[in-house]
Amino acid sequence: MAGPRDTVVIAQSTHVLPLEFNRRYPVLKRGQGVWVEDASGKRYLDAMSGGSMAATLGHGRKDIVAAARAQAEKLSYVHNERLTNPAQEQLARELVDLAPKGFTRVRFVTGGAEANEMAIQIARRYHVDRGEEKRWQIISPAQAYHGPTMATLALTGRPGLKRPFEVYMSNHLHIPPSTWRFDPTGEEALKALDRALEAAGPATVSAYFCEPISAAALPSYSPPKRFWEGLAERRARHGFLICFDEIVTGIGRTGHWFAAESLPIVPDIIATAKGLGAGYTAIGAVLIREHVYDAIAKGSRKFTLGHTWDGAPLSCAVGLAVVAALKKEGLIERVRERGPRLRDELAAALKDVPFVHEVRGHGYLLGIEYVDPRDRRSFLPPELRTAGRVDDVAFENELITYSTMPTRDGFAGDQSLFAPPFTSTDAELAEMVARYATTLKQVARELESKLEARPV
Ligand SMILES: Cc1ncc(COP(=O)(O)O)c(C=O)c1O
Repeated sequence: MAGPRDTVVIAQSTHVLPLEFNRRYPVLKRGQGVWVEDASGKRYLDAMSGGSMAATLGHGRKDIVAAARAQAEKLSYVHNERLTNPAQEQLARELVDLAPKGFTRVRFVTGGAEANEMAIQIARRYHVDRGEEKRWQIISPAQAYHGPTMATLALTGRPGLKRPFEVYMSNHLHIPPSTWRFDPTGEEALKALDRALEAAGPATVSAYFCEPISAAALPSYSPPKRFWEGLAERRARHGFLICFDEIVTGIGRTGHWFAAESLPIVPDIIATAKGLGAGYTAIGAVLIREHVYDAIAKGSRKFTLGHTWDGAPLSCAVGLAVVAALKKEGLIERVRERGPRLRDELAAALKDVPFVHEVRGHGYLLGIEYVDPRDRRSFLPPELRTAGRVDDVAFENELITYSTMPTRDGFAGDQSLFAPPFTSTDAELAEMVARYATTLKQVARELESKLEARPV
């Protein structure tokens, strides 16, 4: 079994239940800034903010650790069901100040899926408290990921993710993504939304649930403006709520405190998580607009469901230190200003890689979409696992990346994310771009020979 000197763990050598049984898990022991180090002392550039996009401030931040320590020494934990604490109160005030206008209340949770589940429950509570008991159904884009719990898995329309747990899930409705491949104008998505509203019966729809700018599901993709305008019209007509999953995009990732600020629509509920703890604690938050609060205040006047660690002093103190660091160092402005150039630099470095279709970018949330280089349009054959190969080759090149292959679900093909910590220097960003380019050129050469023998 794995011991303290092992550099790689495999399924047969660990008591940890692995996520993928055929995968080799490198053991990482320390991190500093945008670098992480494995058990053999080899260093990797972390182009994925800890792998999940959470570590927005990089690794080894002494100020955040000091804030956590100070809070733990004072009061680490009390449950927020019957008690509150200054850190929770102050972090709620901060988030209300930073959120788009009109958001006035915050509910803390301990992660992304919990925040999304809480958003689903708050939306339902809102309708029930207004006397609209029939509203429960949710409409969401099919090509999405909102978490691994039963309620959040039910929000995606991807059979590949849900199987075999769909027996436990509510039947929500889904619309295809309005990407260049299916619907470049957004009109088809609006027609699909109308069909879904009709199928459900508009008076039974509780919410439209989506990421404003997608992360892993469709890296850095956001529907065309026309879609958002049409969605706002339909909300006004039919009375459902709009919930934004800002688990990844919230707290600066796209160069705004919340991605909602950059779109022509204001949601009713925002769920956020990763960047709030920046990889130093498990924390999430649900922000609601005043009219949602009002409905509950005039209705049942309670929403007691919650988790043990919601709003705990320790987590909220870390959240406060993260927000303070982002403000003090002007990091969100840096992401907003630097992000477009980073996208251009990555696109230029990848311009001759034949299977790269597009490089998208919003702040430091960048996405690379791959296609079959022979017709520059079709998905790559899924059995070649090209995006998986990108991550393996990147790791050999001492770069941490994250790619996905949802091809079998039918809405998107092989794709990679590039989401560096906000604290990355220009030299570090340049090195990440260079290693990405080296990696993709190497994978392109391998791909060419694999594709030669196959029909298009
Ligand atoms: C967009 C999005 N929503 C929700 C989640 C779930 O968050 P968590 O893993 O913290 O439960 C994730 C996690 O990757 C995510 O990317």
